[in-house]
Amino acid sequence: MSTLTPVKTKQPLIVRTISELRSELSIRRQEKPGLETGFVPTMGYLHDGHGSLIQRSAAENGLTVLSIFVNPLQFGPNEDLDRYPRDEERDLKLARQEGADIVFIPSVQEMYPKRALTRVLVSEVTESLCGASRPGHFDGVGTVVSKLFHLVEPTRAYFGLKDAQQVAVVQQMVDDLNFNVQIVPCPTLREADGLALSSRNVYLSPEQRSEALVLYRTLQQAAQWAADSEMTAGGLEAKVREAISRSPLASIDYAELRRYPSLEAVDPQLRLEEALKQSPLLLAFAVRFGGTRLIDNAIFPIKGA
Ligand code: PAF
Repeated sequence: MSTLTPVKTKQPLIVRTISELRSELSIRRQEKPGLETGFVPTMGYLHDGHGSLIQRSAAENGLTVLSIFVNPLQFGPNEDLDRYPRDEERDLKLARQEGADIVFIPSVQEMYPKRALTRVLVSEVTESLCGASRPGHFDGVGTVVSKLFHLVEPTRAYFGLKDAQQVAVVQQMVDDLNFNVQIVPCPTLREADGLALSSRNVYLSPEQRSEALVLYRTLQQAAQWAADSEMTAGGLEAKVREAISRSPLASIDYAELRRYPSLEAVDPQLRLEEALKQSPLLLAFAVRFGGTRLIDNAIFPIKGA
């Protein structure tokens, strides 16, 4: 649940071009040698989950850079790029409250001035879950996050575990390509009734919003089912699917148990107790309520539910 309190009220510097960003970072680094930079990449329409990332970055680094960029490369042709919610004024208010120093808000033209022929593709960890149901999505994420890392050159970068697969993909990319940045995974923030904070929650009708609570309820139940020493990986997945399917407005995109962070499949016959001896497990789901697709997850041993 959100327990955030504002830490700073200083107006952050807003920069919209790459050259402004680079020159501002260079000035600040010359002024303070050894300055550590925390980076929070976002697509805007910020909520307290983003706020908690900014706040943590501000607590752990001398400089915090927030980026707001709705990246077209990570949206499929029939996805919500055009209607993705935007509210720059509100975003800047939250950025200031939580302690961002620089907010980078580039246009699409600034980030992709000509037809780019280069993509950063991560294999295997991108092939299941959201990678399977949103083809090309993680190619877009890998590419834009690489570009942003090159521009900001952060010491640490903060990502929410609500998208646990994204955290695994970015960590893999950082390891494989020797980016000099520490990835800091941060816990999912929830509304008081348990719904995971998401910029897309705004799409939900009141009825869908109330039905969507099935996701958190199922994560809580799953934690109890997982405590049964006879429970198998396949058994847990089946119970989770059945629980979500009971909600008349929910349509399951996926509901799967995978090894974390490798995202490898788990033998469905394997008892959870045995599976957990080899690696943590990610129970992840993507579920549609009308036209809105929500994701949520828990990592066993439990951290996220
Ligand atoms: O998680 C997001 O908001 C986006 O995928 C990210 C990391 C900002 C890249 O566009």
